[in-house]
Amino acid sequence: MALSRLDQLYRQVILDHSSHPHHHGNLADSSQKVELHNPTCGDVVTVEVKLKDEIIEDIAFSGHGCSISTASASMMTDAVIGKTLAEASQLSELFSDLVQGKDVDATALEDGAMLSGVAKFPARIKCATLAWKALDQIIAHPDVKEYKEEIEE
Ligand code: FES
Repeated sequence: MALSRLDQLYRQVILDHSSHPHHHGNLADSSQKVELHNPTCGDVVTVEVKLKDEIIEDIAFSGHGCSISTASASMMTDAVIGKTLAEASQLSELFSDLVQGKDVDATALEDGAMLSGVAKFPARIKCATLAWKALDQIIAHPDVKEYKEEIEE
């Protein structure tokens, strides 16, 4: 079955983010760092942020994962940089709703909105949310400098 033009565009943007991820690497001056494992596949993502007055001044991610998890992490960093923790939390909830197939206005997620198709592949939802869940830990515990965990089954 041929892909629609929109599906092709989405696929291209996702491929671009996975092959040339934004904010990929480490922060020399991070204030919080969370490493999260996906126990299903063994993949891992580390998200680091530099917080100043509850604002995400800088963010980076590293680790190894599939193309969906890498693309999603890249899109997440673009969407939350410069945002307050409260705004980032709202974006994380919005993304979670989006990949669960809820009918939401995902414009605020920027390129992340293009991962709506993940809802059709439940096994990939964990891939798409891995970096967002790492960010959620930072939002929930901004006083913790470094943290490691497995996401829940
Ligand atoms: Fe491991 Fe996607 S297969 S994060």
